[in-house]
Amino acid sequence: IPVDGFDLVIFGGTGDLARRKILPGLFRRFCAGQMPEDARIIGAARSEMDDAAFRETVAEAIREFGGAQGADEALAEAFLERVGYEHVDATGETGWESLKGRLRDGVVRAFYFSVAPSLFGALAERLRSFGLADDESRVVVEKPFGKDLETAKALNATLAEHFDETQIYRIDHYLGKETVQNLMAVRFGNMLFEPLWNAQYVDHIQITVAETVSVAGRGSYYDTSGAMRDMVQNHLMQLLCLIAMEPPARFNPDAVRDEKLKVIRALDPVDHHQVVRGQYEADDTQPGYRTHVDDLRSTTESFVALKCHISNWRWAGTPFYLRTGKMLRSRTSEIAVVFKDAPHSIFGPEAGTHRNVLAIRLQPNEGMTLGVTIKEPGPGGMRLVDVPLDMTFAEALGPDAEEVPDAYERLIMDVIRGNQTLFMRGDEVEAAWAWTDPIIAGWKRRGDVPKPYDPGSNGPEDALMLMHRDGRKWREIKA
Ligand code: BG6
Repeated sequence: IPVDGFDLVIFGGTGDLARRKILPGLFRRFCAGQMPEDARIIGAARSEMDDAAFRETVAEAIREFGGAQGADEALAEAFLERVGYEHVDATGETGWESLKGRLRDGVVRAFYFSVAPSLFGALAERLRSFGLADDESRVVVEKPFGKDLETAKALNATLAEHFDETQIYRIDHYLGKETVQNLMAVRFGNMLFEPLWNAQYVDHIQITVAETVSVAGRGSYYDTSGAMRDMVQNHLMQLLCLIAMEPPARFNPDAVRDEKLKVIRALDPVDHHQVVRGQYEADDTQPGYRTHVDDLRSTTESFVALKCHISNWRWAGTPFYLRTGKMLRSRTSEIAVVFKDAPHSIFGPEAGTHRNVLAIRLQPNEGMTLGVTIKEPGPGGMRLVDVPLDMTFAEALGPDAEEVPDAYERLIMDVIRGNQTLFMRGDEVEAAWAWTDPIIAGWKRRGDVPKPYDPGSNGPEDALMLMHRDGRKWREIKA
């Protein structure tokens, strides 16, 4: 779908997200020929610098994060012609009139708030009072969208004073990942899976987002957040919604978001015996979590595993197990749908029990594996083995397939196109906090201390027990 001409203003344009993701992402879309002639990108931030100086920082960002074409000077040069900078004081008067002077009529105006949420209100208010934004303009906000229900409500209320919900694009970058969208394609584009996608046939579902990175360098943010707020409330819950939701009548923003919201609202409160928190320790080569956040008594979790239930017709009785953590064995994100045993084995008890597992890999190596049971070759009778029907999307689509855009590229282009399907609606974010808040409050009330785990492991022992107790097992986080 073609993209209209636009003026994109990035508040926090000199920040880390802009440098690593937003600007290089825009550059890659430019290289892919997706950026119209009349697209302009304006960085806005507190630092005083001119267009040329900002372009220099953008050029560096492109070289470092712009991918293969980042080294192509001619392309970079052509892209930079669209880039400008304005020194703006988010909470004062400086820069606003002159920023306004740069904006054109007749093109989409989008304002990306890549700044601390405490500034959202001031920015929104000034965009209106200085007349930069109108009822057609769009604002893009980043996480963290609040730190609990109360703060999220306050942010929503602040934004709502100045913008309609249809103008607000709340980013959860997991929704921009190709495989996350593929979840919907797989579920609703095939006849094969959906009839089995319910409590009658599914034993349980596992969602794993394992990371190898530590929190070094962002300890001051992370320690006030923890894995529950940083990952579960947003990314994992979005995955849970997409895997569990009813088929929307059509692929449009409100139809999809209504269904996701129903899932969140149908989640039972989590029993505290069904949640495990962990914190990584030091090992011989590196410091542990507490050193990284510079608080030797921190009880913030860098790992969470939990079991939850969705109380509706489709899922009653089917547990969902979620886990995520830093400094784990490998970077592995996947969703596994584990089907029930066949009701009766015609091959007798010696053939063993076998389960089909559909694993959808988000990263690395995006793809899908379906575990199927077949006969073990040879004359030894009817012995069964499980083998994978394995597909990597990139291989299946072949070398001519279009290069998969990074999550941010995709989402920014959707902002310009005015498509909110892959953005969180305000009520969705609030419902997600309403579910996570009591879990966090319970930890505080009980003075819960996270269980230590070794860097490079699968997380704390108790997380394994969470499943073992139920006679189930996490899928391996492969090295
Ligand atoms: C961010 C979290 O939202 O997502 C980080 O704040 C986390 O802590 C990151 O590392 C993971 O994103 P990705 O795309 O690397 O899986």
